[in-house]
Amino acid sequence: MLSPYRLTCEYRQNPLGLGVRQPRLSWQLRADDGARGAAQSAYQLVVAADLSCERSVLWDTGKVHSDQSVHVRYEGPPLRSTQRCYWRVRVWDEAGRPSDWSEIAWWEMGLLTVDDWQAEWITPDWDDAEDEARPAPFLRYTFTVDGEVRAARLYATSLGLYELYLNGQRVGDAVLTPGWTSYRKRLQYQTYDVTELVRAGANAIGAILGDGWYRGHLGFSGRRRNHYGDRLALLAQLHVDLADGRRLIVTSNAGWRASLGPLRMAELYHGETYDARLEQDGWATPDFDDRDWRAVRSLNQPKDILVAQEGPLVRQQDCLAPVCVFAAPNGEVIADFGQNMVGWVRFKVRGPAGTTVTLRHAEVLDAEGNLYVANLRAAKQTVQYTLRGDGEEVYEPRFTFMGFRYVGVRGWPGELRPEDLTGVVVHSDMPPAGEFACDNPLINQLQHNIVWGQKGNFVDVPTDCPQRDERLGWTGDAQVFIRTACLNRHVALFFAKWLRDLAADQYPDGRVPFVVPDILSHGSAASAGWGDAAVICPWTLYLCYGDTEILAEQYESMARWVDFVCRQAGERFLWTSGFHFGDWLDYRGPNPLLPAPATNTELIATAFFAHCADLMYRTARALGKTDDAQAYAALYERVKAAFNAEFVSPRGRVGPGTQTAYVLALHFDLLPERLRPLAAQRLAEAVRDADYHPTTGFLGTPYLCHVLSRFGYTDLAYELLNQEGYPSWLYPVKRGATTIWERWDGIKPDGGFQDPGMNSFNHYAFGAIGDWLYRVVAGIEIDPEAPGYRHVIIRPQPGGGLSRVQAALESPYGRLSVAWALDEEGFRLRLSIPPNARATVYLPASKAAQVTETGRPLRPAPLVRPKRGVAVVEVGSGDYDFHSTGLTLGQVMARVRHVAGRLDRGSVVRDLLANPAARAVLLRHLSEAELSRLSLDSSLEAALQRIGRAELIQTIESELLTRSPRA
Ligand code: BGC
Repeated sequence: MLSPYRLTCEYRQNPLGLGVRQPRLSWQLRADDGARGAAQSAYQLVVAADLSCERSVLWDTGKVHSDQSVHVRYEGPPLRSTQRCYWRVRVWDEAGRPSDWSEIAWWEMGLLTVDDWQAEWITPDWDDAEDEARPAPFLRYTFTVDGEVRAARLYATSLGLYELYLNGQRVGDAVLTPGWTSYRKRLQYQTYDVTELVRAGANAIGAILGDGWYRGHLGFSGRRRNHYGDRLALLAQLHVDLADGRRLIVTSNAGWRASLGPLRMAELYHGETYDARLEQDGWATPDFDDRDWRAVRSLNQPKDILVAQEGPLVRQQDCLAPVCVFAAPNGEVIADFGQNMVGWVRFKVRGPAGTTVTLRHAEVLDAEGNLYVANLRAAKQTVQYTLRGDGEEVYEPRFTFMGFRYVGVRGWPGELRPEDLTGVVVHSDMPPAGEFACDNPLINQLQHNIVWGQKGNFVDVPTDCPQRDERLGWTGDAQVFIRTACLNRHVALFFAKWLRDLAADQYPDGRVPFVVPDILSHGSAASAGWGDAAVICPWTLYLCYGDTEILAEQYESMARWVDFVCRQAGERFLWTSGFHFGDWLDYRGPNPLLPAPATNTELIATAFFAHCADLMYRTARALGKTDDAQAYAALYERVKAAFNAEFVSPRGRVGPGTQTAYVLALHFDLLPERLRPLAAQRLAEAVRDADYHPTTGFLGTPYLCHVLSRFGYTDLAYELLNQEGYPSWLYPVKRGATTIWERWDGIKPDGGFQDPGMNSFNHYAFGAIGDWLYRVVAGIEIDPEAPGYRHVIIRPQPGGGLSRVQAALESPYGRLSVAWALDEEGFRLRLSIPPNARATVYLPASKAAQVTETGRPLRPAPLVRPKRGVAVVEVGSGDYDFHSTGLTLGQVMARVRHVAGRLDRGSVVRDLLANPAARAVLLRHLSEAELSRLSLDSSLEAALQRIGRAELIQTIESELLTRSPRA
């Protein structure tokens, strides 16, 4: 029996203030008896205006024979602004048995039309001085409620950032509202349930405004500000529904009052300056005397660009305590939070009035142990707080954020104790989606760093970095990381919102800006690998969430980009013109006289052109646009042919022979079938030539290991992953990194820093390897024909010395998990597939008899492909425990050692005996009789254990070559 639960509307549970006129409803299913193969055969949805879902029914689907449980569109009568809808669902399982009704969920519409807005845009009636610091205005208004309050909603937005108060209490817990969109074309408003804050009688509403993205410093060129305008403004509308049925509407209007207050400066890059002596107690309560306050005036600003909150809100997500506090050589007291994080510090302090405490934020320390701030460029990341002096004072910033692990404190009255400081982690709401862990702590730390890179750079828009004077929505970075992002966290809404801004800021000729929202100068657009975000991001969301609506919505933008590229490429179908960032930050080798060949931008641009033509073909197909699909398929073929003619030799050499050249050609399927194995072999050689290091930049990195594993070089991919020297993923980990670095060598092997002009320690792009960890190491793969994990392909590829891996994912259908373990007995896979989803499982085996499930042979017997060494099993939902004797840890270790030519305690005895030096070592310590008892396929460690000579391992290992010369 199935029961529906976890009902969501447009990805959210019980959303308030929805702007989608025909929202899509989803539910997950629980198989009550844990039965396998549980699937939905029909559903019935009821949407009603009444809480019981029994009266005032708006839409009753009746029994619909369908297995769809995700993204079912509301098809009832048109929904009105502020309307609340209650809904429930019941389902029939695969045997036709009905479930009970689900619990009742709801959604509530926001303000859908411009006419719903009675409020006026208001701005303080003064002009700001043109000097650096612009104090934040405080606004207030009083009103009377003449009746009992049944419900109240506040709809609000601003030019700049805002924080709202009702009767002295903070409204909601979102920060940095209204978020960042392409402000001239789209501005989000937020909806708050303020029923608890409004009361019968006198009330007061207050607002604080900050510069934020709207008019604060933004961008790296020339410290520009006022990007969108130079006046801050508020738009707020309060709906109070009274018990007697009346609705009272309170709005922002010319009757509000304004004043400056204690917040003397607030800038996203620079921090805040706050003088607590200037606080006005009770400023947002009804009794406050605002006679000294100044007037506001209404501002003529469009309201037709308003949209309901689309992305997730940004909130405080976590708190970190300092791991230690110490005095730096330069006298500053430094608190170390142990984690490079994004947000701010909340502190409590006591001291004489007028004392100023200064907090400077930095990601790393320099060689002497002082804060290193050169890589912040112009961003000051500094908070200055001047004390009131009347007991304990608690402060935390509100209109800024900082990227830091260390905080340098000056001017602190008395001794700074660790408990005086709290690191507040701030990012967009993104519920956890995936988890990945294995038995190599370095790789686990890498995964940790990837997740923290995501947290720090998902602050309303996907940014390149969160600390220096940049923090922009770089399209290339987002495109490179999106797949990994979708695995770690739920980011559908986050990216859907950003993609609308991408479309909004796209140039009329189809060019996509380098950054979205676009605040760079005209012409900062259209780099290959960056503009392609327009196509790659929606497609990735479709794969991960099975959401066709995102494709439909972005289709025009996607097509405009590809059309633009098409025009650039012209009749030759080669994109050889224009500016491109290329394989940004690839490894070039230390000798400037012998630079490793970079991948030429013409090759990269043409490869991405082909890839996007292919994705357009797939997109058109998914949307049922047959003619378009045909046209894009033909385009893809043409670009491929041009690519091969221009960049590929008859023997499979691609361009300059860089890793990235092969990776793009192979990953995008650009080469004729017969050349693929040859090109893959050349890629493997390129990896070996680089002594098993990645030499790729932003564009090659996400696909490098995928291509190696796809073409049979998984062992090489693991070699790359396990590499600890520069350049590699684990090099920063070994250097103590807690986030992903912008550059392979942010801190160089000699301990020095990379160029401070571009050296972020929190840049997610190289973290794109995370995608390979989930999809290949753990083996959870999407079937593009049944996206959104409807049909999952489970194909772990063990290697790299790992003996245990586990990964789980909150898929649209529910939790999906994989745990595999390898030992000398074989390979074990525990798998859990949620109801209404199914999986094809690949197990290492050469004979069906090698495979069991919960100790029993499989019925029917699995399909075995002996050549590939896999058994294929189709399963429905449920929990499974597979075992295969087709692969042992010893065999995997042997492969790794073979690739690396490395000999140590994990090496297989057979390899050790084949190596003359190692053989001599063994002979020195073991008798002939003992030697003959060693099992050839075991690791040395296991073999010694078995013959009772485990104590010898240290001695033998230290005598063994740890890295014997490669053949
Ligand atoms: C950013 C990047 C971005 C790049 C463009 C840098 O300043 O930090 O990550 O993609 O410029 O090449």
